[in-house]
Amino acid sequence: MLDFLGNLERTHLCGELRAANAGKQVVVMGWVNRRRDHGNLIFLDLRDRTGIAQIVLDKELTPDGHLKGEQVRPEYVVAAIGTVSLRDADAINPKMPTGEIEIEATQLLVLNDARLAPFSPSEEAIQNEETRLKYRYIDLRRPEMQHHFRLRHEITLAIRESLSKQGFLEIETPILTKSTPEGARDFLVPSRVHPGEFYALPQSPQIFKQILMISGFDRYFQIARCFRDEDLRADRQLEFTQVDLEMSFPRQETVFAVVEQFLAAGFAAAGVTLATPFPRITYDDSMRQFGSDKPDLRLPGLTDVRSAFPDAALTTLQIDPALPVVALRIPNVGELSRKEREDNHPIFDQKKGAKFIDDFKRLAKSFPETAAKVRELTGATDADFVIVVAGDPAHPVKASDTKFEGRLSEREINVYSAAGNFRTELAKKYAEKHGAFHATEKIVADADPQSGKLVDGTRAFNPIWIVDFPMFEYDLTSAKWMPAHHPFTSPKEADMVNLLTDPASVRANCYDLAMNGLELGSGSIRIHRKDVQQQIFQSLGISDEEARARFGFFLDALEYGTPPHGGIALGLDRIVMLLAGAPSLREVIAFPKTAKAIDLMAEAPTTVTDQQLRELHLRIAQKS
Ligand code: AMO
Repeated sequence: MLDFLGNLERTHLCGELRAANAGKQVVVMGWVNRRRDHGNLIFLDLRDRTGIAQIVLDKELTPDGHLKGEQVRPEYVVAAIGTVSLRDADAINPKMPTGEIEIEATQLLVLNDARLAPFSPSEEAIQNEETRLKYRYIDLRRPEMQHHFRLRHEITLAIRESLSKQGFLEIETPILTKSTPEGARDFLVPSRVHPGEFYALPQSPQIFKQILMISGFDRYFQIARCFRDEDLRADRQLEFTQVDLEMSFPRQETVFAVVEQFLAAGFAAAGVTLATPFPRITYDDSMRQFGSDKPDLRLPGLTDVRSAFPDAALTTLQIDPALPVVALRIPNVGELSRKEREDNHPIFDQKKGAKFIDDFKRLAKSFPETAAKVRELTGATDADFVIVVAGDPAHPVKASDTKFEGRLSEREINVYSAAGNFRTELAKKYAEKHGAFHATEKIVADADPQSGKLVDGTRAFNPIWIVDFPMFEYDLTSAKWMPAHHPFTSPKEADMVNLLTDPASVRANCYDLAMNGLELGSGSIRIHRKDVQQQIFQSLGISDEEARARFGFFLDALEYGTPPHGGIALGLDRIVMLLAGAPSLREVIAFPKTAKAIDLMAEAPTTVTDQQLRELHLRIAQKS
């Protein structure tokens, strides 16, 4: 028999009760986390958003409450009325923030019952993820998930406040709109009113935020939902959230200062201090030093060890002398057996013409000086694992491998990225062995139970700006230079003269923000002049008609007094994922999609009725 709430008001939250509350009459409400029956005494662990408090149902004090206590089961929703009392010294639980007290109930109301859940929110072990997602409402009750969303809230709030203080206005842009230029596939929404026509969901607010600059808003931001129909990974969702901003008359440095301020505020809200200004690196240097355009600074970078290899060594080891020879060092791994080393081999991507040497004992036998020099150049100790990565001369040279003056060739990039990927994959694999790298470490344990804030510990968060990206990439299939970024990204003013004559040399006025091996954000100074925009379209082989069809309204707007402007968008989900120490975005998005793009709880996507299809003027050509 369930009880009604009546006029009963909750007086306290479970997790906030302390010894100082002893003697107080309280009313707490929540879910039964666990129940222990000791005969005349029944103990209920009552859980709400803030934590757990222990309720004691004493048969003598409350026969009725005790009777109900016998009937309640995990996840029943109850209200307890009683007095806070200090626990006996031997019953104090130092692991629980409320461990010094318990509530001696005088009354228990059972507000709702609950079916036996497929898993208990009180279980620590991570359940099968599909079950977690199907019963997301139960999964979200877990203290760890509650913590993630509290963290997300605090971070978002701090970012909003910082941007508002920095003069940014929050303005919403449409969800039903026209295709935007981020380069992923659009989600389309058929129009009932206009047969055969479609809206597109925005891949980002890009065009609208630029128009807001033309509209004179000077500084815009939005915590914006974006939609991209792309293959999902741990750090990618179909719908995700950006901290999106745009400003008028900025230099690159102005954007950096704004971002550094709001990001530092967001991290501070999670108890982490970020030192500003963030370091910067050019794209080329980032490839050379880290083999990645989103470098992870928590690990030693790559070392150029070409000088350690005399010609004879290059020939014997079959190393391409024209390509980079780099070493990577994974600290504190200890001596590895041949078997252990061989287990690493499948991680290495050989397909793109890179090879590696991980057996230093053998190298030392044939080329002792080379082996010694590599160790010296990398600064390796005996406990470190060192690998040399180089180009494979047997790999065929493609037309796109052409070396353009002043620019890394595709083959060079392939060698650097093979080394870079090996570096981060091995580091993840050996993460437990060395303290500096905790990509997947759970850091919820570092959270202060009272404030929910993370306590700044040994975790490292290393932001870095990547600048001076090439403007174009050569596309072999179409034999055209394609934009490496969206087509509103401006070229560096100094490189503008080479736009049509030497596209390879043109650098883009754009920048990425990386942290711990993850791309956190991306932005650019935009093209604000119609003549330059036309030149870019021309250099990309986009005809006037095509440009008009795709972005006509925007090209029109550009002609009505467009200020120089620029901006950036940061992935909010990724920021929270990093700060929560979570292994995937699914841990920090309340209702995410699976890797197969399914919402297991709501069961979306689904078929719709014929009637709905008719109204939208649609027919399904083939039902699988
Ligand atoms: P970009 O496409 O690089 O730039 O996106 C900016 C940031 O958004 C995050 N992000 C994602 N997060 C989760 N799931 C996804 N599928 C996903 N895709 C992107 C990343 C990324 O760095 N309009 C431009 C920004 C600008 O130029 O101002 C844009 O959207 O953290």
